[in-house]
Amino acid sequence: SSVVLGQTDLHAAFGGVVPEIAARAHAEKLDHCIEQALADAALTLRDVDAIAVTSGPGLIGGVLSGVMYAKALSAATGKPLYGVNHLAGHALTPRLTDSTPYPYLMLLVSGGHCQFLLVKGPEQFERLGGTIDDAPGEAFDKVARLIALQQPGGPAIENAARTGDPKRFALPRPLLDRADCDMSFSGLKTAVLRARDKVIGEKSGLSREDQADLAAGFQAAVVDVLAEKTRRAIRVYLGKNPAVRTLCVAGGVAANKAIGSSLETVAAEFDCAFVAPPMVLCTDNAAMIAFAAAEQSQVRGPDDLTLSARPRWPLDTDQPSMLGSGKKGAKA
Ligand code: KG4
Ligand code: ZN
Repeated sequence: SSVVLGQTDLHAAFGGVVPEIAARAHAEKLDHCIEQALADAALTLRDVDAIAVTSGPGLIGGVLSGVMYAKALSAATGKPLYGVNHLAGHALTPRLTDSTPYPYLMLLVSGGHCQFLLVKGPEQFERLGGTIDDAPGEAFDKVARLIALQQPGGPAIENAARTGDPKRFALPRPLLDRADCDMSFSGLKTAVLRARDKVIGEKSGLSREDQADLAAGFQAAVVDVLAEKTRRAIRVYLGKNPAVRTLCVAGGVAANKAIGSSLETVAAEFDCAFVAPPMVLCTDNAAMIAFAAAEQSQVRGPDDLTLSARPRWPLDTDQPSMLGSGKKGAKA
């Protein structure tokens, strides 16, 4: 079973996630989620082998609520405790859904993250590149706000883009002049802002058609950047002669049909299999964390009660941190 409780409604009035509300909502709902998960699986706590919990990276209040709860449950039941990196959960999902063999290339695209990972084992991740500023989901959300579409911005923009002309506004494809796999989406967002302001300046408002054209232009730019950078990441990946060639995608932005089908085409260009887990397992969920702990339990022991919640926790600690990752070190 995998019980997912969203909090979108609680934050809607504030135009973004409010950390304190997020932490409290976690603490209030954990009992209920665990009862529900056990009921759905027709099991009791006694039947459970181990307790897995996301112990980072992320907004610390929510992570802390989960870690404290899991520790208490582990202490009370004597079951082993596994702290799991949230990104490892996403990155290992193709093994849960498709038994994808290692090593595979993963493009992780969500509201908070964007990176190419070479997934070599349950705890072996090599980052080939990532965003140096905004994540694509964040850009979708911000652009939706700019052109008066609702939140979450991803589905709203995808919908509006269907009737739009992607060529009406000339928007940039940032960092394509750089040979590496790094990406940037912040300048693209600013370009949409300028294009919007120009239209408003001329017509003192945005028509539905303007909205659709801006949405289509923005989405087309994201599609182009992700496709071209994925080609580069695939070349690096194939340079390592993997036994099986697989491109995987995960994270909320993978729900976007234009992005998904463009990545599928890119995979085919290189004769790679393409794995995109079903939406419920692409967006944040409990099953991916339980599964990641099960995979990791094959290569390491459980954590003890000193397990701590980590706001920042890069998967690949050998790489220098990305630009913009702040004074406290790399976010991911
Ligand atoms: O992975 P996720 O559920 O949560 C985390 O960020 O961890 O991703 C949420 C993000 C949001 O920014 C949302 O706008 C974006 O995924 N998203 C989409 C689509 N559906 C959700 N972006 C583009 N197109 C979509 N259809
Ligand atoms: Zn996530």
